[in-house]
Amino acid sequence: MTRYTEPKYRTIFDAKENELEQLREKSAHSSWKPAYHIHPQYGLINDPNGLAYFNGEFHVFYQWYPFDAMHGMKHWAHTKSKDLVNWERLPVALVPVEDYESHGAYSGAALEVDGKLYMYYTGNIKYGPVERSANQNLAIMDKDGTITKYENNPLIEGVPEGYTGHVRDPKVFEKNGRYYMLLGAQRSDLTGAIIVYESENAIDWTFKGELNLKIDFPDSVYMLECPDFFELNGKDVIVVSPQGLKPDGHDYHNIYNVIYVLGELNLDTLTFDVEDYQELEKGFDFYAPQTFAGKNNERLLFAWAGMGEIDYPSDNEQWAHCLSIPRELDIVNGKLVQKPAQELKQLRKNAKAGDVVLETAGSVEIGIGEQYELELDFTGMEADKFGLELFASEKEGLVLEFNRSGKTVSVNREKFEAAFGGEYGFVRSSELEIDDTVKVQVLVDRSIAEVFINDGEVVFTTRVFPNEESNGIRIFADGKVSCSYEKHELAQGISF
Ligand code: FRU
Repeated sequence: MTRYTEPKYRTIFDAKENELEQLREKSAHSSWKPAYHIHPQYGLINDPNGLAYFNGEFHVFYQWYPFDAMHGMKHWAHTKSKDLVNWERLPVALVPVEDYESHGAYSGAALEVDGKLYMYYTGNIKYGPVERSANQNLAIMDKDGTITKYENNPLIEGVPEGYTGHVRDPKVFEKNGRYYMLLGAQRSDLTGAIIVYESENAIDWTFKGELNLKIDFPDSVYMLECPDFFELNGKDVIVVSPQGLKPDGHDYHNIYNVIYVLGELNLDTLTFDVEDYQELEKGFDFYAPQTFAGKNNERLLFAWAGMGEIDYPSDNEQWAHCLSIPRELDIVNGKLVQKPAQELKQLRKNAKAGDVVLETAGSVEIGIGEQYELELDFTGMEADKFGLELFASEKEGLVLEFNRSGKTVSVNREKFEAAFGGEYGFVRSSELEIDDTVKVQVLVDRSIAEVFINDGEVVFTTRVFPNEESNGIRIFADGKVSCSYEKHELAQGISF
């Protein structure tokens, strides 16, 4: 079958003279470029890929289309760090020039095998605007950082019977001396599934079958993307990005959403006994997360802080999206919680602390900033509604509001000149039991806020595109509330 052609399917090797320099120049001067979040110099990024702590360094790869703020020919871009916060940009790791990846080096994950980093990824193949297939491929990084595509790619050619061309995003792990590969898949009846391959040597793979995830997804779920698997505190955990979930109460309000599943995986019977599953995040811009083992074997996560199908204000500057900060996962009271990775403390400078009491309804400004971390405890609540406004100015502000009688917390990002994504709503919310103290930790970075409530019980990842004067931090309430806070400016962690 002949392959599909469209201008967006070209690689950086096809760039015209000075084209990449011009793209870099055009995007360079944005006031929205994050200072410590991994982001593209130009073009669009999406999923984190190949995450690893390998040979004493952290490696973060990610999906990248260089030529515009749109989804096109995906490359694997590459950054590395010794400390998880200061990132060095490296030459692009995977440029899809081979037949077995003719329409992009799609997402995948890494595993250290025999002292080398094996990076598994999907070769996207398109025969038309819709018709497609997929190959599963391997690239290997040596200790000296040289990356070579495996000479006998693809490892897995095409898709197994019973599935459409939507089979992708390999996650490979070792268990009891064998290797397993999970892939996101779409069944021929257009419903979503996870399929499993098995290998003795991490190179030769055989199809083992479909994972029986005992979850009754509605039939509207048409694809499961980016399956991730790990063990934490004696539990097996799957994190996956289902497409086609419908809003339900406070859940699943984004066009695409992420869930985690706790339980027990049986690799002989390919069943996963589900104890609980939940939406992982409550924010607007969180998708396709991937986890990996950090320096001390702690479970770390990066996500794409973005969402498909939505135009973002930075598109006009020829760049789009960033990754989340690295987060550490834990299971607390039977729930998967996310906290900023400890390493982020290394970016702290210029601390400022204070106490504020609001006696009656009103608001008070507690500071300004563009890249900072704020830790804040609300206590002594008599107010029913209270909260925090970030990126605040006369005209703009991101509103985090706690509602005691309603037992909810919400984030509203409507009040911006460059408001966007309104077709999917400007408010996200969660249930929350509000006791004597509410703990809030916020990381703000020019055009992103990540809000962690009560040590990661509820998390909102939210992009906003403020005017330059919108940098205020306010506390507000409709009655009495006290608040003590500590604010740290955060240093630059990655070049613009
Ligand atoms: C998720 C995803 C993956 C795919 C990649 C392509 O955002 O659609 O399933 O591999 O992005 O960029």
